[in-house]
Amino acid sequence: MGRSLATALIVIAIILAVMFMLTRNPSIAPVDPPAAASFSADQVARGEVLAGIGNCAACHTTSTSNPYAGGRDFSTGFGTLYSTNITPHPQDGIGTWSRDAFVRAMREGIARDGSYLYPAFPYPHFKNLSDEDLNGLYAYLMLLEPVAYTPPDNAMRFPFNLRFLQWGWQLLFFYKTPLKADPQQSEAWNRGAYLAEGAGHCSACHSPRNAFGAEKKDRAYAGALIDNWYAPALNAAQPVPVHWDSESLYRYLRKGQSAYQGVAVGSMSEVVHQGLHKAPDADIRALATYLSSLAGHVESENSATRAAQLIQSAQQRTDSDRSHGEHLYITACAGCHFNAADNPLALRAELSLNSAITAEDPTNLLRILLQGVPASEGSPGIVMPDFAVLSDGDIASLAQFLRIRADLPPWQKLEQRLRELRRQLGHNTAAQQGGNQ
Ligand code: HEC
Ligand code: HEC
Ligand code: HEC
Repeated sequence: MGRSLATALIVIAIILAVMFMLTRNPSIAPVDPPAAASFSADQVARGEVLAGIGNCAACHTTSTSNPYAGGRDFSTGFGTLYSTNITPHPQDGIGTWSRDAFVRAMREGIARDGSYLYPAFPYPHFKNLSDEDLNGLYAYLMLLEPVAYTPPDNAMRFPFNLRFLQWGWQLLFFYKTPLKADPQQSEAWNRGAYLAEGAGHCSACHSPRNAFGAEKKDRAYAGALIDNWYAPALNAAQPVPVHWDSESLYRYLRKGQSAYQGVAVGSMSEVVHQGLHKAPDADIRALATYLSSLAGHVESENSATRAAQLIQSAQQRTDSDRSHGEHLYITACAGCHFNAADNPLALRAELSLNSAITAEDPTNLLRILLQGVPASEGSPGIVMPDFAVLSDGDIASLAQFLRIRADLPPWQKLEQRLRELRRQLGHNTAAQQGGNQ
């Protein structure tokens, strides 16, 4: 027993050593931080818009006083990883990275010193960016205020702390070839595809991942849990009964609101209000064109008629079933969320049409009930109160009644999910309540 274990360990050690040798990438020599004059104003402006579409700040910023200085934690199944400082600080940030070093990181997931980066950094999407767009991003980052801040050391478990093992991950799951334009499709569709699959990395949140943390290509946009939010399906399996079309997608991505599908909350509100917000209208239209095609629906349905029918039926269901959940809905929610069938309001969404209720995963509804939607989240300045004082049993009956109203089967394991969320968000909820007092 002892001997075979020792032999196995030696063999593993040899394999690791050989892999280490085989997988080494050259380091790219450090340079002096480039002078502002080496970039054109156009490049910087282009980079700023792309940094928004790529939502770089959301992952690389922990406090508004230190933008892009990194330090946000990502708890992966393999340990905790921290985002890096991408300001041009020479020691703490990427100030000594040449353009080539930056481009290699974005396209190949390899840092300046030659080590592999983890795919929590969405380089599998950023590889699709054009030279011009990467030059713009590089210019924009290099002209940011350098911030002296070193993010905490990663706490990845052995063997995942060995960066060279990412070589194997890349071999299995990373295709270096960038996205190609589809000549069968319109210019707007191709532009939308480029933005969504590239800088926007929309599928990074909206697609389920495999056990190794890679997006399942065959289930792209099928919906996924990410950081305790549920990013709903956007393909044909989209849970909203009034389907997304290019017009509603445009309004949602531009303003964060759509009359029939509601408002952008949680991480999506950051994507819309801080990320996409400087992107030109043509780009938002292009994104909407591409996304609406993912569902494969023909845009012939009349959304207003369909919504009116669905709202009327939901309101009838309200009349027939006098459950405890219904009582809670009428007293706690309907005052704000009751909608006239022919004129539903995005800001007080008709709940029977909303993905928080119609998705197969109850996370968003539970989370909204536990935390509310503070002024800084969802639509800027607009608040929905939290209902964290309700007992687990009350929240569950209310949630199941909302499912009945939407003509859907009850959610399974609802109270278990609620307890998990209370535990996981405990910290946030307390901080938020503290902040409101
Ligand atoms: C979903 C979160 C996320 C987003 C969005 C994101 N990053 Fe990162 N980024 C990370 C993480 C995490 C790392 C650290 C990876 C590691 O240590 O292996 C990282 C690392 C990097 C690195 C390598 C830096 C170094 O010191 O090794 C660069 C460059 C970078 N990001 C640039 C960007 C740019 C530019 C954008 C926007 C276009 C962006 N990132 C968007 C999470 C993100
Ligand atoms: C950081 C993760 C994240 C990224 C990146 C992201 N989303 Fe989302 N998205 C979410 C979450 C979470 C929700 C659910 C929140 C809600 O319904 O308000 C959502 C909701 C949506 C919805 C509404 C779905 C529904 O039926 O309610 C649309 C449309 C959408 N996202 C489009 C996009 C597009 C387009 C992109 C890329 C530009 C994108 N998302 C990038 C997390 C993300
Ligand atoms: C005081 C008015 C008010 C009450 C009471 C209220 N809400 Fe809301 N609700 C809002 C507003 C306003 C928003 C939009 C918040 C934003 O955009 O920032 C919202 C958003 C939501 C959303 C997100 C919808 C979307 O468009 O994605 C859900 C789900 C929700 N409410 C459920 C409920 C439930 C369930 C109750 C009852 C327990 C309730 N609300 C009670 C005002 C209210």
